[in-house]
Amino acid sequence: MLPTCETLHLENKRVFLRVDFNVPLDKNGKILDDTRILASLPTIKFILQKKGKLILASHLGRPKGQVNPRYSLLPVAEHLAELLNKEVIFPEEFLGDGLRKLVLDLKENQILFLENLRFHPGEEANDPEFSKKLASLCDVYINDAFGTLHRAHASTVGMLAYVPEKAAGYLVQKEVKFLSQLLNNPPKPFVAILGGAKVSDKIGIIEALLKKVDALLIGGAMAYTFLSALGLRVGTSLLEREKLNQASKLLEKARLKGVSLILPQDHLVARSLSAKSEHRVTLGREITGDWMGVDIGPKTLEEFKSSLQKAQTVFWNGPVGAFEIADFAQGSLGLAKLLGELQATTVVGGGDSLAAVKMANVENKISHLSTGGGASLEFLEAKKLPGLAALEE
Ligand code: 3PG
Repeated sequence: MLPTCETLHLENKRVFLRVDFNVPLDKNGKILDDTRILASLPTIKFILQKKGKLILASHLGRPKGQVNPRYSLLPVAEHLAELLNKEVIFPEEFLGDGLRKLVLDLKENQILFLENLRFHPGEEANDPEFSKKLASLCDVYINDAFGTLHRAHASTVGMLAYVPEKAAGYLVQKEVKFLSQLLNNPPKPFVAILGGAKVSDKIGIIEALLKKVDALLIGGAMAYTFLSALGLRVGTSLLEREKLNQASKLLEKARLKGVSLILPQDHLVARSLSAKSEHRVTLGREITGDWMGVDIGPKTLEEFKSSLQKAQTVFWNGPVGAFEIADFAQGSLGLAKLLGELQATTVVGGGDSLAAVKMANVENKISHLSTGGGASLEFLEAKKLPGLAALEE
């Protein structure tokens, strides 16, 4: 059973809240998308309202155990202070005597935000000494970092053995509720859309989804590996030659299970993956010469549409084209708009698909926007997420 935060007594307690504020920043430290920050506000506000002393902790990027100003959480702490209209203490020192004093002096309703946990090698190594140090800061531990629950790190797993009380925050509860429904009893027909560059990243989830879905729609660069496995020409499109065999096996599995695995029947092709490149729509499935696939074509979008209109449940992970280039975004944006019109339960996960949903302005029309990329895929693969298991122990 997942312990949940609303049953905890937080008054006057030091509450360690692990969040996933691993948000995209530009080179000047401007936050490009604050969805993950907004998504944890209910838990943050709850702790403050219950008069807890809040210690916030997150990672940002992959600084590999080194202090690196490029990955400082300072811009995130500043943004949070603006959102809450409240002071956020952001100590430069981490886990030394200075920090300990700040933590001991913390008053009810105050917020202290730790610098990037991954500046310490002990975080990703799940080092027991580092875990004990983190645990010694608090009386209560709450995890709201859904996007990081698939990582067995000190702040998601290790420190939980040393804290007296632990629970899941509201974001983790919401993610688990929506994704469990998809995993356990999705209203049928259940249609999944997978995109993104590589088949190799998605083999586990394709295998898992083939056991659940009625139709699997595949777009993005990984579609070219499947088309090539069918013996079709794909021009200069991105192709994982070493995965052709695996792609054939997945196609065969889908056939045996009676799942309709729908691949693009036409494409937008370009001379190169750049904004000003010459581009056109193919007549059929094959891509010839020195053209490369950069998006699904209009016929494919129509076919995806007719499959999605029958669905009661839809899961989407991964854009179906190189949507960061405006000319190559029609497929992903069209799909996002379509999902926004459906009456079905719609769940979208993964940073790029969320960005497409926002670009299409339909974020309020999707049932659940998952803040986890890898975490939501592993959850749907029925893998036990280490961070969830540690909360339940
Ligand atoms: C994510 O963005 O998927 C999470 O924050 C986890 O980050 P990681 O893949 O660097 O562990």
